[in-house]
Amino acid sequence: MHSSFSVLFVCLGNICRSPMAEAAFIAETHKRKLNILIDSAGLGGWHVNEPPDIRTIKEVARHNIDIHHYLGRQIQPDDFLNFTHIIGMDHKNISQLKKLSPPQSEHKISLLMDYTPNHKRQAVADPYYGDQSDFEATWNQIYLGITCLVDYFEKKL
Ligand code: 4NP
Repeated sequence: MHSSFSVLFVCLGNICRSPMAEAAFIAETHKRKLNILIDSAGLGGWHVNEPPDIRTIKEVARHNIDIHHYLGRQIQPDDFLNFTHIIGMDHKNISQLKKLSPPQSEHKISLLMDYTPNHKRQAVADPYYGDQSDFEATWNQIYLGITCLVDYFEKKL
């Protein structure tokens, strides 16, 4: 059965960080036998209907998760109503989300690393202009954030 929570991960392009967060969240909730609705979206529309960046697909595949079928989408007004949690990767994501959000949904917006005990206010940097090793570092950071986020949900369920 689905829980009462639903999570939308948001980054700029929806081809690097938010698909990674989505994959990590699915892996971690599956491991803990939790069932929480999940999706990801980009603030920009450049990569709509495109698969994730090949470097994202490769890094995630190292953790035995296949995301080549994911397709990019842009955040839409209904998302602010339909999801219970809208989680951005960096501070710019958060300020753009707050501008797009209706006032009654602003409380749903948070920064991924704010769920960690020791890395609050930390941004997940965009690896897009980096190389494969930057994608590995991004995965490690995101996985830490995701573990703490799933802890948070597990306590609430
Ligand atoms: P993401 O990275 O926000 O982690 O998906 C980006 C990917 C593409 C672009 C920007 C950020 N872009 O400008 O195309």
